[in-house]
Amino acid sequence: MSYELTRPMPAFDLDSFVGRSRAVDLAAIDWAEIPRHPVPTEALRALRYMQDIESHTIIYLRALLATRAIDDPDVATFLACWLYEETFHGLAWARFLEAAGAPIGTRARPRGQEPWAKRIEAAATAMVSKAWPDFCAVHMTWGAINELTTLTGYRRLAAVCDHPVLADLLERIILDESRHFFFYYRQAEIRMQRPRVARVARILVDRFWAPVGSGVQPDGELLFLATYLFGGPEGRASARKVDDTIRRLPGFDTVQLLESWMDRHLGNDGSGSPVQQGGSNGHGNH
Ligand SMILES: [Fe+2]
Ligand SMILES: [Fe+2]
Repeated sequence: MSYELTRPMPAFDLDSFVGRSRAVDLAAIDWAEIPRHPVPTEALRALRYMQDIESHTIIYLRALLATRAIDDPDVATFLACWLYEETFHGLAWARFLEAAGAPIGTRARPRGQEPWAKRIEAAATAMVSKAWPDFCAVHMTWGAINELTTLTGYRRLAAVCDHPVLADLLERIILDESRHFFFYYRQAEIRMQRPRVARVARILVDRFWAPVGSGVQPDGELLFLATYLFGGPEGRASARKVDDTIRRLPGFDTVQLLESWMDRHLGNDGSGSPVQQGGSNGHGNH
């Protein structure tokens, strides 16, 4: 990287990340203990959403392989490890759900057969990448937002659902998500030191961002998850923290993300009663 930085920031040590990249340790989980503690229906429903989105990473990667992301050696190396770790998150949740007596079953639509809207989105992403040499800036920003949303969602799940094995698994997975977030965030921060790059990235996020899983899981499931994890005052505060962290990126100081999405879709009194439906642009990336 040769961009001039306007303020010091800790570097992301890619070599150390690659050296430490490994699958979440499934052998260390006490699977037999899971059925001994009831898991609320809401938590099972949330985990089904999360399991599907984690397992969808390979499809996100398919879209990314058609972009400049693979021309940047650091990004390409990161993505290889990222896919590996995310895949194991999906496997871990599938196994947890099975042990809890709620196996995921067969997916209604084969994962590789995406709806038209998602295919058009992937083609549009490839076109933006072709036309814009700094495409990775928006990719890194997008990744930072979605990793931070994911890890915050997992922290909220740990707070609202008291289950010893779930807590153990969440703690392990949150560690991975934190490392993913750190990579994306630092990359975004460096790339957007150039104001013109930050301006374009901001326009794309303002126009196309929607919470992770949008367009992959049904809208009703997304609304349920948002209400369950971010609906009350503590959930709201967590969503605001995600937004505030992203607002520290260059050019993103006024960006409207999770909280504003929740105001539009769930109401702003924290009750989870929708004030307005629709408006989701169906873009998700993890
Ligand atoms: Fe994950
Ligand atoms: Fe992640």
